[in-house]
Amino acid sequence: ILKTANQRPVLHFSPKQNWINDPNGLVFLDGEYHLFYQYHPYSSVWGPMHWGHAVSKDLTTWEELDIALYPDDNGTIFSGSAVVDWNNTTGFFPDEPGIVAIFTSHLGGSETSPTVQSQSLAYSHDNGRTWIKYEGNPVLTHSSNPDFRDPKVFWSESHSKWIMALATGQTISLYSSPNLIDWTFESEFGDGAGSHEAVWECPDLFELAVQGTDERKWVLLVSVGDNAELEHGSRTQYFVGTFDGSVFTPEHSDIRWLDYGKDNYAGVSFSDIPEEDGRRIYVAWMNNWRYANQIPSSGWRGSMTIPRTLSLRTSEGRTLLHQHPVKELDHQFTESVALPDLLLSAGKEFEFKAEADCADLNLHLERFEAAEFGIIIHHTGTDRTVLSYSAADRTLSLRREQSGDTGFSAMFPLPQTTEELGQLKDIRVLIDASSVEVFANDGLSSITSLIFPEKPLERLSFYTVGGQVQLRGGSVKLIR
Ligand code: FRU
Repeated sequence: ILKTANQRPVLHFSPKQNWINDPNGLVFLDGEYHLFYQYHPYSSVWGPMHWGHAVSKDLTTWEELDIALYPDDNGTIFSGSAVVDWNNTTGFFPDEPGIVAIFTSHLGGSETSPTVQSQSLAYSHDNGRTWIKYEGNPVLTHSSNPDFRDPKVFWSESHSKWIMALATGQTISLYSSPNLIDWTFESEFGDGAGSHEAVWECPDLFELAVQGTDERKWVLLVSVGDNAELEHGSRTQYFVGTFDGSVFTPEHSDIRWLDYGKDNYAGVSFSDIPEEDGRRIYVAWMNNWRYANQIPSSGWRGSMTIPRTLSLRTSEGRTLLHQHPVKELDHQFTESVALPDLLLSAGKEFEFKAEADCADLNLHLERFEAAEFGIIIHHTGTDRTVLSYSAADRTLSLRREQSGDTGFSAMFPLPQTTEELGQLKDIRVLIDASSVEVFANDGLSSITSLIFPEKPLERLSFYTVGGQVQLRGGSVKLIR
């Protein structure tokens, strides 16, 4: 057990030193998952961006490697993606397929020099260990839009071309290319759809099967930045629709949030997951631009969410995104305890010891007759994080005002509440040294939240208010 609360996560990627933000270039090749990320190697606050690099074979234990991409004459290295060029469409790989990174070159941004953002390429012949910048960089420029960034690229099998989704202000623009070098504008999406509270960033566009049907639909993820007037800072929305190789058409214009916690931003999915695996695996930066530069730090700052498998399900005419922690996570725990079936009633709190670095709690709820049901995560001492479901509102809330250090931001202690999610049927709570990730109703609603308790995890308790709840088939897994 981490006796000192250094708050470094065990199951989540964090850098050895200094600042990280967005995950970049998520790609799988030769048995390795690559996680590149926005990295400032000289400080624990944001600054001139590089791409840091880590690899994993199981999506949960990461090895940090040397910095992959350094700033150059075209600018610092902002967010982007990576793909395997299997068919040597670029001409970079005469001998063996390799990885191409497509990223934003960022220049200027001060009062004297206006921001210029363009898209550039780098490629690697040795599984991302060393990189060659393409000599014709940048490959995609814009003469007037200062927000022209975060290219996410995929190969469209049915249209035989590369597609790029790019954040272009408060829209997402789509481009296509035969070779990753020459790009053609296809369409622009966003007018009249979704949230326009702030700048759009870090798009991702991919196709998913709708569970239990033969249908497939397209999902567009869009991160929405912070602006000081927002109560919640930066967050992520998504659209479900169709894509014809040129135009994305949503089947709805309402706002759908991907997560109801404050700490899930700039998330994108892995490229080149083998077909026999077939998963769409998503990772986000577990932070919020409102306070990212101020969260407690002991030399390193920032971490990623647990990788999640995304799926689509239709209910009551709406096709919605569900998230589940990747199954690889299950093998990381050293202990698994089955909980007794419990009939909770008012005044009968159930509590159990969970002295551990990490915990993964799973509960099924039946015969819900209470007004409120809650889970309390107790850390040694008085720090506690409270999760509660309100039967009247049919919403789940996470309250972290007593979770430990909260004083670095006025927004941090405010409650985080889901939209109406119906009757609460099941809940999964993944606790690491400085985070809580909650997945309710088979992954339909999630709350991703940082916490900074002073001391390690000690116990978990359940309570109800105003009636009974039957818990059945619960379990808790621990890492000690
Ligand atoms: C999102 C973002 C991106 C940009 C990067 C810079 O968090 O603002 O739009 O490329 O971070 O670090």
